[in-house]
Amino acid sequence: MGCNMRKCWWHGKIAYQIYPKSFADSNGDGIGDLRGIISKLDYLKDLGVDILWLSPIFASPFIDNGYDIADYRNIAPVFGSMDDFDELVEQARKRGLKIILDLVVNHCSSENAMFKKALKDPFGKEASYFYFVKGKDGRAPDNLRSYFGGSVWEKVEGYDDLYYLHYFAREQPDFNWNNKELREKVYEMVNWWLDKGVSGFRIDAIMNIVKDTSFPGLPPDNNNDGMCAANKMTAKLSFKAKEYLKELRDRTFLGHDAFTVGEAFGLNDSILPDYLGDDGCFGSIFDFTAREVFEKEPGYYAYPEVDIAFYRDSNFSMQEKANTLGFVAPIIENHDEPRAISLYLKPSQQNKHGAKALATAFMFLRGIPFIYEGQELGMTNTRFDSIDEFNDLSAFEEYRKCKEHGLGDEEALKVLNLHSRDHGRTPMLWDNSVNAGFSQAKPWLKIHQDYETLNVKAELADPDSTLNYYRKLTRLRKDPRYVECFTYGVFRAGDTSDREIVCYNRHSDAMDIMIFVNFSDSERKIQLPEDAQLLISSEKAELITGTLTVQPCSAVVVRIR
Ligand code: NOJ
Repeated sequence: MGCNMRKCWWHGKIAYQIYPKSFADSNGDGIGDLRGIISKLDYLKDLGVDILWLSPIFASPFIDNGYDIADYRNIAPVFGSMDDFDELVEQARKRGLKIILDLVVNHCSSENAMFKKALKDPFGKEASYFYFVKGKDGRAPDNLRSYFGGSVWEKVEGYDDLYYLHYFAREQPDFNWNNKELREKVYEMVNWWLDKGVSGFRIDAIMNIVKDTSFPGLPPDNNNDGMCAANKMTAKLSFKAKEYLKELRDRTFLGHDAFTVGEAFGLNDSILPDYLGDDGCFGSIFDFTAREVFEKEPGYYAYPEVDIAFYRDSNFSMQEKANTLGFVAPIIENHDEPRAISLYLKPSQQNKHGAKALATAFMFLRGIPFIYEGQELGMTNTRFDSIDEFNDLSAFEEYRKCKEHGLGDEEALKVLNLHSRDHGRTPMLWDNSVNAGFSQAKPWLKIHQDYETLNVKAELADPDSTLNYYRKLTRLRKDPRYVECFTYGVFRAGDTSDREIVCYNRHSDAMDIMIFVNFSDSERKIQLPEDAQLLISSEKAELITGTLTVQPCSAVVVRIR
């Protein structure tokens, strides 16, 4: 039985990701905060989204911008107080918006009280919540490389041959999910937030929780450092994760009817059914198929160029698999990625026409679409002029790798300007005033170069803007006449022989709706049934007795039955 057999409150909903540091600054310190988010709830409601995912807002030293949590039950002071949070939930509720939080429980911060105790007594109770392991033959227990570079093992100070494990930065020690007491602590914390009124979670890096405690390591990969990327081990062990994740689900989410979306990379076809659908570990999982080609590479410098056909084919393959399983969460970008317009579209289309075309291709895929802040404006990559303008720890590591690989300063900067995670993290553009209306103070990260025209205020005033087009798309997706088809209708890929066309159908008992996006530089004519109805088009489109003319770099959505 597929997920579509049991109706859930989040089916048919549209989600929006907020990166709190960069959304809106209410107190003039250059960093976004909860009161800033509250002040923009009407904007989000009007945009037509239903679920707001907040990247981590918890107390943290911000080594990895909040994905290193020191205290899971307190709000980071830069974001505000628990009262601000409660008000956010209440104000959202009044507007029919649901808040979901980021659940980061593969690891915490080295500033977390439990880890601090563990460091003091690496053979005591708290240490058993982490992995404190003796070295092998005078070396670290295995040869895995962390996601942010270097070994996954860090020596414990004061001991000759003892290490702790961190798949991400050394300030992000991994929790030991084999430990029942630790799992109980996690469930208690999750239930505490659910009882406070959050509607669910986005679940961070979760496939990494399974470890082979003999720490066998893996044959070195292509980095010439004798190491192998930790994600290879995660992929190898991923079949085991469901034992813990079903327990997590049963002990927390189910009882609260919570919506969950997993950041679950690399699920192969045989285990995908464990994650989606009525009995899946999560309500949904992000579709990262389009990112997997990058994950295989040793660094940004080796990332292949990708185009719209690549994005299309990646999506289509997951859509076809998920049809019978449940709902994936389609995305075009997030806080870990450059802007999709800059990544997938050719330079001549990196503008509002391309933004609208891409928006249409994405918005009607089957699942729960997640819009990332600024996507609705058509944000492209921000131009960084020097390595010092970046903030992300992985930007610095990737820069180092570029240099090690023989690239000069300028070439390395060029690579980061294509792929850095900071492109998704530059502040939201609200108007054309100082700092794009994001903050009265100098923002923590650079403002996008086009903010004077690319901003919410300007786009709200322009009927033809990307933002107003997004507002139309969200309304169409939820239009009572079509919502059943857009929600539960089967995905059917159209012809993929032309690399510049994205075409698919949504099919239900009652109707067929075709999404046709022309990314080529020439007009396309398509033959349709006489009674076809044009539901939306991103540019002018003419439907004359069954022939629809679609402009270059434009999209149409047509009911064809
Ligand atoms: C995935 C998050 O999206 C990313 O921003 C973070 O660096 C890692 N997980 C570690 O938590």
